[in-house]
Amino acid sequence: AAPVTHEAERAAISRGAAESNHAGFTGSGFVNYDNANGSYVEWTVNAAQAGTATLGLRYANGTTANRPMTITVNGTAVASNKAFNGTGAWTSWSTTSLSAALKAGANTVRATATTAAGGPNVDHLTV
Ligand code: GCU
Ligand code: CA
Repeated sequence: AAPVTHEAERAAISRGAAESNHAGFTGSGFVNYDNANGSYVEWTVNAAQAGTATLGLRYANGTTANRPMTITVNGTAVASNKAFNGTGAWTSWSTTSLSAALKAGANTVRATATTAAGGPNVDHLTV
């Protein structure tokens, strides 16, 4: 099926804020992670059937330093300290992808910052 877009600003946010001051986002904005280890965004996504899905995370990182995050699905890490490298500007958005197993029905996908710098700005998740 065609990927479905899940906006970060509509997801559950822990230690971050929905903002819209850097252009190029989809929806009504993006999430600015607090510059803190452990800040996260968590989406609930529905899968019609169990199987392997491609998860795409669209983000911007206007610094030159990696802002790694660990991605969990239903509480299990599927990518640890995944790199979210600089994109050149806070208005330059890139998508990084990974594969993960989903169960039929509701799944939680969480992207948690793993350094004190926090995460990048996150626009959306595609599944
Ligand atoms: C700037 C930028 C924010 C970003 C922050 C950061 O303040 O405007 O959008 O989240 O830097 O470094 O995390
Ligand atoms: Ca931030």
